[in-house]
Amino acid sequence: MKNTPSKTLGDKQGGIPKKLSTESYKGVRDFFPADMAIEKKIFDIWRGVCEKYGYEEYGASVLEPAELYRAKSGEEIVNEQTYTFIDRGEREVTLRPEMTPTVARMVAARRRELTFPLRWYSIPNLFRYENPQRGRLREHWQLNVDIFGVEGIEADVEIISVAYNIMKAFGAKDEDFCIRINSRHMIQKEIENLLDDKTSYPKAARLLDKKEKMSSEEFQNEWSKISKKPFVINGVMARERTNELQGKLTLLGIKNVMFYPFLMRGFDYYTDIIFEIFDTNQENRRALFGGGRYDNLTSLFGGDKIPAVGFGMGDVTMRDFLETHDLLKNLQIPTSADYYICVVSPAEADAATKIAEKLRAKGSRVAVDFSYKKIGDQIKNADKRGIPEIIVIGEDEAKNGIYKIKNLKTGEERNPE
Ligand code: HAM
Repeated sequence: MKNTPSKTLGDKQGGIPKKLSTESYKGVRDFFPADMAIEKKIFDIWRGVCEKYGYEEYGASVLEPAELYRAKSGEEIVNEQTYTFIDRGEREVTLRPEMTPTVARMVAARRRELTFPLRWYSIPNLFRYENPQRGRLREHWQLNVDIFGVEGIEADVEIISVAYNIMKAFGAKDEDFCIRINSRHMIQKEIENLLDDKTSYPKAARLLDKKEKMSSEEFQNEWSKISKKPFVINGVMARERTNELQGKLTLLGIKNVMFYPFLMRGFDYYTDIIFEIFDTNQENRRALFGGGRYDNLTSLFGGDKIPAVGFGMGDVTMRDFLETHDLLKNLQIPTSADYYICVVSPAEADAATKIAEKLRAKGSRVAVDFSYKKIGDQIKNADKRGIPEIIVIGEDEAKNGIYKIKNLKTGEERNPE
C-alpha cells in the first residue's frame, strides 16, 4: 500500500466531514461487548492449552521496520499486503502482517541469555491489506505458538499436538477437521526437477499454494507458463519424511492426519515439515490455520541458526469454524456480573452503592442500575444481560441494610450469606 495524498474533500469542510460515518474502517471489526465476550473466551481457551504445555506469553509492538519482512516473508505479502508508511523521521515502517519475523528477531536479540528450548506464545493483532471476504480481513488476531531450539521431530509432534488439543478444547470432534502434512524441503526437490530453470521455484510454489482454489485448466495454463514439463507430483520423498511424524502423532491418539503433497504454505521461510488444519465441513472447506518448521529465520540476524517450529491460528477462521459446527453455544461465556442491584429512587443510591461495595469486597461482580426506571424495567435489563440474580433496594432496605437476593430463573429469594 502506498501513501496517497487525501482525495478532494467533497462536502467536507476543512477536511472534516459534516457528519462522521459510524462505520469502522474497511475490513476491520468493532467488538461490541457480546462479540468481545466471545473473543475473550477464544483467547482464554488458546491461553489455557498453551500454558498446559508450558508455553510462556510474550508481546511486541505492532510497528516494525519494513525491511524485516522483505527478507523472508515472501514478496507477495510485502508488496501487496502490508500497511507500510514513511514516518516523520523518514523510516519505512510496517504494521506487522504476521508475528514470525518479530519473534525470530526477539529470540535472536537475546539468544545468549535465553535458555533453550524456548516455548513461547502470543496473541497479536496483525494487519494485511487484503480484499475483505469470508475468513480474510484486514486486521485479525492470531495465536502464535512456537518452539525454538529443538532440531528433532519431537518439536513438530508437540506443536501439532498443541494445535490438535486446541481444536478439542473448543469441542471439535476428530471428524470435524483434518491435519494435512507435507515436507516443504522434499516437495521443493520434486518441483525443482520439473522446472527448466530452478530460479522459478518461488513462482511454482506460489502457484501450488493456490492450486486448490483453481480449476484444473486454470492451473495447467499457469503451470505451462512456468515449465514445459507436465505437472506430476507423486510425493514419494515427502511421504517418507512425513511418515515418522504421522506415526508419532498416531501414538498420541491423533489420527485425523493426512499426507497432502500439494500443501505449500505461503511463506518462503519454511524449511521442512509444514501443516495445515483443514475444516472438513462441506460449507466451510478451507484451511483454518497452519504452520511448520523454519530453521533458518533467526540467522537473518547473524549468528548460528536456531531451529524453530510453530503455527499461527486466526480468530476469524476459528469463529467461522465454531459457528459452522455449532460449537459457540458450548463456550460458556461468563455473564457481565453476578448481581444486578435495582434502585427505587435517588434517595437509595448511596445505600445501594455501599451494598455493592461490600459484595465486591467478598469477590462478587456487581452492577448497579442508576436509571430509576420502574423496577420491572430494571429487572428486564438484568435479564437481558444474562445476570442471574438481582437485589432491589427501596426505602426499607436502605434504612435497615437488610435485603434479599432473587434468582431470575427460578424466582426464588434468599438472604445474603
Ligand atoms: P498464515 O497462514 O499466513 O501463517 O496465517 C495463519 C492463520 O492466520 C491463517 O490460517 C488464518 O487462520 C489467519 N489469517 C491469516 N491472514 C488472515 C486474514 N487476512 N484475516 C483473517 N485471518 C487471517 C502465518 O502468519 C505464520 N506466520 C504462522 C506461523 C507461526 N508459522 C510459524 N509460526
